[in-house]
Amino acid sequence: MRVTVIGVGRLGEALVAGLCRAGMPADSITVIGRSVERTFEVAHRHGVRVADLRDLPDECDVLVVAVKPQQIEGVLTGLGSALHGSTIRPIVLSVVAGVATDRIEQFLPSVVPVIRAMPNTPMTVGAAITAIAPGAAATEHDLRLVESVLGSVGEVLRVSEDQLDAVTAVSGSGPAYVFLVAEMMIDAAMSLGLDRVTADRLVIGTLAGSSAMLGVGDVDPVELRAAVTSPAGTTAAALEVFERSAIRRTFQQALTVARDRSLELSGMMRPPLERISADQN
Ligand SMILES: NC(=O)c1ccc[n+]([C@@H]2O[C@H](COP(=O)([O-])OP(=O)(O)OC[C@H]3O[C@@H](n4cnc5c(N)ncnc54)[C@H](OP(=O)(O)O)[C@@H]3O)[C@@H](O)[C@H]2O)c1
Repeated sequence: MRVTVIGVGRLGEALVAGLCRAGMPADSITVIGRSVERTFEVAHRHGVRVADLRDLPDECDVLVVAVKPQQIEGVLTGLGSALHGSTIRPIVLSVVAGVATDRIEQFLPSVVPVIRAMPNTPMTVGAAITAIAPGAAATEHDLRLVESVLGSVGEVLRVSEDQLDAVTAVSGSGPAYVFLVAEMMIDAAMSLGLDRVTADRLVIGTLAGSSAMLGVGDVDPVELRAAVTSPAGTTAAALEVFERSAIRRTFQQALTVARDRSLELSGMMRPPLERISADQN
């Protein structure tokens, strides 16, 4: 399999690193960037090839688009021209938040399969959870190829495209919620008199250990919590304070607002993409 990554920022480089770690030969991976310096720096770090959007590699099975939402118009315009004048038919895998498959398809030959993915930043340590949704031309075979690419940097699950805004609110933004909990626990630990280094180690170790327990087979967080909570004990006293503070409602509201913001941002991106597509026709 040959993979080309357009956009080698945080996510693009994490994917390249994951593919190399998973044993994909470095000469099967090509990167296409904007800043020459950054692109060659990434290519050098991982030993992969460099290409240009106007001169795509002759062989490419999966072409990953990993640029910012506001940068995708330019990339799709260039990619559309390159693919219209070429015989290669890669799967276009977009990790760009908020840009729907039908909008991406407008720029590409209709036979080119498009798959959209919502990964998250634990990809940088090979522990992402990525949801994928197929566009109109994507087949089961295409989904499997993409699963094997993204499987090199974590877990992959399939969803329908209309679920991706909720996925963004849950797992796309999710690492930030966990980091906020870490930050709040560290602050609280220090207010109890622990020094910063001790507080960091205790909190980070607790979060890492608890996540590892959650990751073992078929576990229910409610049961895991109950197992740490003896009646009238210390944990019960702390949990009672959380429940009284309406923390559940706060989480519900926060995720709803994140989902709604994702929907809003997707809507905001429609006009320029449609304008560019119309200009081409
Ligand atoms: N980070 C997350 O948690 C997360 C989670 C899920 C999805 N995503 C999605 O992943 C995408 C990438 O995010 P990121 O955090 O990796 O962003 P990033 O660090 O800003 O990387 C974007 C890269 O794309 C390059 N680029 C811009 N225009 C280009 C062009 N025309 N041709 C080739 N390369 C170009 C940029 O190059 P320059 O540096 O030269 O501008 C930059 O290196 C975003 O669309 C985001 O929505 C991110």
